Amino acid sequence: MPRRGRIEAVMQEIDLRESWNRLSARYQRAHTIRTDAAHYGPCAPDENQLRLLGDVRGKRILELGCGGGQCSIAFVRQGAECVAVDLSDAQIAYARDLAAQEEAAVAFVQGDMADFLETLPEAGFDIAFSAYAFQYVEDLGRVFRGTRRALTPGGLFVFSLDHPLNDITACEDGRIVLAESYFARGRRFWNWELPGIEESTPFYSFHRTVGDFLHLLTDAGFLVERLLEPEPTAEEFDPWEDPAQMQRYAAIPATIIWKARVPG
Ligand SMILES: C[S@@+](CC[C@H](N)C(=O)[O-])C[C@H]1O[C@@H](n2cnc3c(N)ncnc32)[C@H](O)[C@@H]1O
Repeated sequence: MPRRGRIEAVMQEIDLRESWNRLSARYQRAHTIRTDAAHYGPCAPDENQLRLLGDVRGKRILELGCGGGQCSIAFVRQGAECVAVDLSDAQIAYARDLAAQEEAAVAFVQGDMADFLETLPEAGFDIAFSAYAFQYVEDLGRVFRGTRRALTPGGLFVFSLDHPLNDITACEDGRIVLAESYFARGRRFWNWELPGIEESTPFYSFHRTVGDFLHLLTDAGFLVERLLEPEPTAEEFDPWEDPAQMQRYAAIPATIIWKARVPG
């Protein structure tokens, strides 16, 4: 996950597709993400440990914001069929190469997830999955409604992203501080800085409260079954993070994971 720094001047011109295209190679080099288990992000157990999706053999899975494709590749290796969409051409190119190397047949699509969802037939998937992509989406209500439509009755929707407390806190001089109001929803601009790499990339993402997610899900017609706020064990402290951030994640959850279901 990024170390964030405020930026001012260029914020109106940020194009997330372009930012992800610029960052992709460095991101994939820095994070060497596994393909034997779908992951939920920093300081969180993976799907092989949590088993939120159950046995995926024979299941049709839709991944939203798939990045380098590692989670879909893991699902295919476990016997699922996967369609995976991502905004970034570079991330999708990386995903296609990786899937070819691993001989995993994933249908990767470049595009905006909300637009892509509207092209899908109704009730074509058993599971929708997303790891750390929804913070980049402005109209999440549209994405959740499209996801609900794409899922079969009884279908599962499981996703993770930054915990809202992670959005609003920082570690300064060894102290954890409240950097922003929990209630200050909306777009936040920052620079993505990878440890050991000088060049940073301008980004924005959207802060929402826990209640906002709950209402977006229920308004789209989902039943919420689980909300996980993993407290990392010593082994789960993530190599992605620098030590100052790890001190923060010992005190507040880095990641939030939602499990919801279409009724029926
Ligand atoms: C932090 S990465 C996570 C990627 C992957 N899920 C993983 O866990 O490694 C976020 C991804 O979301 C994608 N993304 C952002 N906005 C998107 C959108 N509107 N539609 C589709 N993908 C999007 C980015 O291109 C990026 O690859």
